[in-house]
Amino acid sequence: MTQAPEYPQARTCPYHPSPAYEPMREGPPLQRVTLWNGLECWTVTGHAEARQLLADPRVSADRRRDGFPTVSERFAGLTEAKPTFLAMDDPEHNRIRRMMISEFTVRRFKELKPKIVAVVDDAIDGLLAAGSPTDLVEHFSLPVPSMVICHMLGVPYADHEFFQKHSRLLVQGTSDDVRVARVALVGYLAELAMDPPPGLIARLKADQVATGQLSKEDLAINAMVLLLAGHETTASMLSLGVITLLDHPDQLALLKSDPAAAATSVEELLRYLSIVDAGPSRIATEDIEIGGVTVKAGDGLVITSSLANRDPSVFADPDSFDITRPARHHVAFGYGVHQCLGQNLARMELELALPALFRRIPTLRLDVAVADLTLRPAATIQGVNSLPVAW
Ligand code: HEM
Repeated sequence: MTQAPEYPQARTCPYHPSPAYEPMREGPPLQRVTLWNGLECWTVTGHAEARQLLADPRVSADRRRDGFPTVSERFAGLTEAKPTFLAMDDPEHNRIRRMMISEFTVRRFKELKPKIVAVVDDAIDGLLAAGSPTDLVEHFSLPVPSMVICHMLGVPYADHEFFQKHSRLLVQGTSDDVRVARVALVGYLAELAMDPPPGLIARLKADQVATGQLSKEDLAINAMVLLLAGHETTASMLSLGVITLLDHPDQLALLKSDPAAAATSVEELLRYLSIVDAGPSRIATEDIEIGGVTVKAGDGLVITSSLANRDPSVFADPDSFDITRPARHHVAFGYGVHQCLGQNLARMELELALPALFRRIPTLRLDVAVADLTLRPAATIQGVNSLPVAW
């Protein structure tokens, strides 16, 4: 029997799935693949099957389970660490998620909107002051979501170099880097939580830690996941979003001419870019019949979001970037009980930041050929670590 193909595979274009996935696009919605450690698991490429599995209580997100599909050696060490609620199952997952949900409502973000507008404006001032040519990641993509999540959590933005460096190591470093970065970030947040500035950490401390619902350690661990997910992902979306729009001038012109197009263009960017690509990973706890196969109890499952979001039975002409298409049912934020808690925040940041950037710097262009960009490796949040731009 031939061995299942190695997975995941790196992109060669920042906004297209890996060309190595081409054969998978022709195949069934669940296919066997081989991970870095030789473990075979299923990857899910069908949109309906991805949603069905992510909503199925017979799958677990607990990476400590034997046979859990870890997509890279760098994340293998995380199985030893105490899990965040992202890697827990209900009811414990839901218990912790419920503590935070009131901080993540659409209403809450409406109140935050003026702050985000000001943050975006300040970042563009900083970008202009840096002068053309410069690095968009350093002066725009990272500062915008970092300032916003700092404001929400009550983390001093003055510490951004520390937490951005360790967050980057956590998603891109070696397995040793990942361990060290995790300890550093949790330690930093535990210390901050001793006397927290106003914000979500202070509110969780007063409402949940003080009443014995949440341990001090769990406060720091879960604050870490918010701090990291709150800036790394949105920063990637901003950089790749700029690349994609500049590479599709007709769509950029449409966005510039119609402010109402901001919301649909963000959904289309989320679908098209699928930055959490070797995406949500799970392990089956019971046999599941799906997509013409039996996923056995103990089998690993990894959603290939870039393919699920280009499933031609759901998105017509899926490889074309069309900011007018209704794309909101993409799985870029996952699906089911773990569906992204920060999705409304991410949407609002992207809807405000991208149009403002092109409004204030209408001649913005890449100062590098797209083909020459250094892309992140396959098994992490997709993106670029720097993006030379000019105007
Ligand atoms: C565009 C940016 C973002 C993308 C593409 C994204 C993507 C995702 C995905 C795919 C998941 C599901 C993981 C799984 O099922 O295993 C997730 C979960 C999560 N995201 Fe995001 N995310 C983004 C922004 C944010 C932001 C701004 C925050 C804010 C604080 C955030 C916080 C979280 C948290 C806490 C979870 C875990 C939820 C749970 O397990 O119940 N994300 N995100």
